[in-house]
Amino acid sequence: MTVQTSTPGGLHINPYEKRWIKLSIILLLFFALAVGVSAFAFGYQVPIPEQRVNPMKITASGPFAHPGLRELAPGKYEAYILAHIWAFTPNEMHVPVGSRVTFYVTSRDVQHGFLLQGTNVNAQVIPGYVSTLSYHFTKPGTYTFVCNEYCGLGHQSMYGRIIVEPR
Ligand code: CUA
Repeated sequence: MTVQTSTPGGLHINPYEKRWIKLSIILLLFFALAVGVSAFAFGYQVPIPEQRVNPMKITASGPFAHPGLRELAPGKYEAYILAHIWAFTPNEMHVPVGSRVTFYVTSRDVQHGFLLQGTNVNAQVIPGYVSTLSYHFTKPGTYTFVCNEYCGLGHQSMYGRIIVEPR
């Protein structure tokens, strides 16, 4: 008895191997479907770098020379946050409840992370790039943000908070 099957090209594939090939193709199709559903049905997006900056010069001029919260219109803010070893500048911001805040985060030294706990705001912070995410604060409270990429000895002390005040 033979365990070999023959294809029209004369290539012999073991039936077990054939089963695994089929399974791998099914898995790839399943993963492609999962990515498609999360991207188009749930709106998950890969964070893209908003703009490129020179990490050597960002503290000399531009919005990261004076990072902080700016009010664009009532209830609409932008927050420029500079990550560095081992802190965020600024590390405390106050906004009224109902505000939408767009975060612009970059690093002047090594790779950091920016995770706003309890929300879906989570980005890598890479020197040379500005990561941008926005969030609508519908509930008052204290929202802690942390560095979630290991960046050296003081990594665990990199955090800050956003205080969402009731109206
Ligand atoms: Cu910055 Cu970890």
